[in-house]
Amino acid sequence: MNDRSLQEARKYEAENQDLIPADQRPLFHLSPRTGWMNDPNGFSWYKGYYHLFYQYYPYTDLWGPMHWGHARSRDLVRWEYLPAALAPEDPCDAEGCWSGCAFEVPEGIEGLPAGAHALIYTGRTLVREGDREVFHQSQCLAFGDGIDYVKDPASPVVGAAQLPPGFSACDFRDPFAWWEESERLFYMGVSAMDAEGGGQILLYSSPDLKSWTYIGILEGCGGGIGRMWECPGFFRIGDTAFVIASPMGMPAEGEFQNLHGNVVLSGTYDPASHRFERREVHVMDFGHDFYAAQVTQGPDGRVLCVGWMQSWENSPVRQAPFRWFGMQTLPRELTVKDGRLIQNPVREIESLRKDPHVYEGLVLSGRLSLAPVRGRMMDLTIQLRGGDYRVFGFVFAIGEGHESVLFYEPETGRLTLDRSRSGYREDRMGNRVLLSEPGRRDLKLRILLDRYSIEVFANDGLQTLTSVIPTPAGADGIAFFAEGTAEVDITSYELAE
Ligand code: FRU
Repeated sequence: MNDRSLQEARKYEAENQDLIPADQRPLFHLSPRTGWMNDPNGFSWYKGYYHLFYQYYPYTDLWGPMHWGHARSRDLVRWEYLPAALAPEDPCDAEGCWSGCAFEVPEGIEGLPAGAHALIYTGRTLVREGDREVFHQSQCLAFGDGIDYVKDPASPVVGAAQLPPGFSACDFRDPFAWWEESERLFYMGVSAMDAEGGGQILLYSSPDLKSWTYIGILEGCGGGIGRMWECPGFFRIGDTAFVIASPMGMPAEGEFQNLHGNVVLSGTYDPASHRFERREVHVMDFGHDFYAAQVTQGPDGRVLCVGWMQSWENSPVRQAPFRWFGMQTLPRELTVKDGRLIQNPVREIESLRKDPHVYEGLVLSGRLSLAPVRGRMMDLTIQLRGGDYRVFGFVFAIGEGHESVLFYEPETGRLTLDRSRSGYREDRMGNRVLLSEPGRRDLKLRILLDRYSIEVFANDGLQTLTSVIPTPAGADGIAFFAEGTAEVDITSYELAE
């Protein structure tokens, strides 16, 4: 049970934030104001700002009774901290304010404050079931003005009573909601576990956010894709519908290399029957550290996505005694090509580019450093043109006995990140491999480094790989290598304010 109030959390974070030096944080990735961060929550555009909340425990760098931390930004790369938005201090959420979503309340709905910022999140509570105590999860509602939020007394608005037969209130969480203007209805997907232990996304609808009706199952693991599907999402781009989720306990197969993974399913959605027809299933990101992604729409119509840039597997491991832990990815612009999801860094990142260096038609054989190209906050584009090479490598965070290696083998189309010398004393995860097309010699890579991470966008965003790089920030060397002869163009920028 959490015995600290929202007021206390706000006081604590305001007093302790300055103990974290700016150069100990990433430059453009959001990290917690103090303490621990996990999932992105409530990613939304509201009254002139992007808002990004996050699972938050301000008092230590470990997971605890969850609060909602809060930040806002006009451009998705420069974030301003706001006071924590929610603390687990009410009967509906006394054991934690878990993940959820946010949106602006539309006009003209009786009983709802038009124009307010609505939050729907999971409240965790301890309940007695016979002679034992268990944790239950139910969906709660709060309204605010972009800074301060008040929990609605109707909370929880969806609980055990609205579960279909066989489902358990012990695993019933992470609501994401959207408004269908044509029907004047809200829809909400919530992740849940069926009687066989399979993860399912339950779909509900409501005219007023307070009374919800169960409709059916939107999607689920179907016996094959992990167990509990945490943090689900649903969106459409053009004619293609997408379901995303973070399944726990994935089998290590094919594209899926993480125990707690991330998936994107593409297909079609029929709004009349509420049926999602699955066409393809892929991993959303091949890296070590991408989980619990959320999607929202910007004011310009762009579909944007952000994920927790961390894995649960490695989350107990600490490299440095920092007063913060956890980062969000750089938000991504989502588009669709040939029915597949395409992810690219938001274009606003270009506003941080400094000091360009362009090398065209390099013929690389062996290892090469390009004197001005070094740093841990970088934006690089590497275009392999071809050549007779067996391996091409990008080596970064070099120094003080460390180096991290991203290498590509065209014969198999495998792009591997080896972070065995990236400063982890105990990396629980091993290498991660992005699978491109076997035989392809003209791989294109966009790489973003931001002190403690690498984000790789391959083949114009068809595949991505995101990983934490805990190497001490002073190790800032960069080199390239080829076994055989590779022809390559390289463009690099430093990223700075
Ligand atoms: C996913 C998750 C969610 C839950 C939250 C708790 O990382 O386990 O399912 O709401 O984190 O912090």
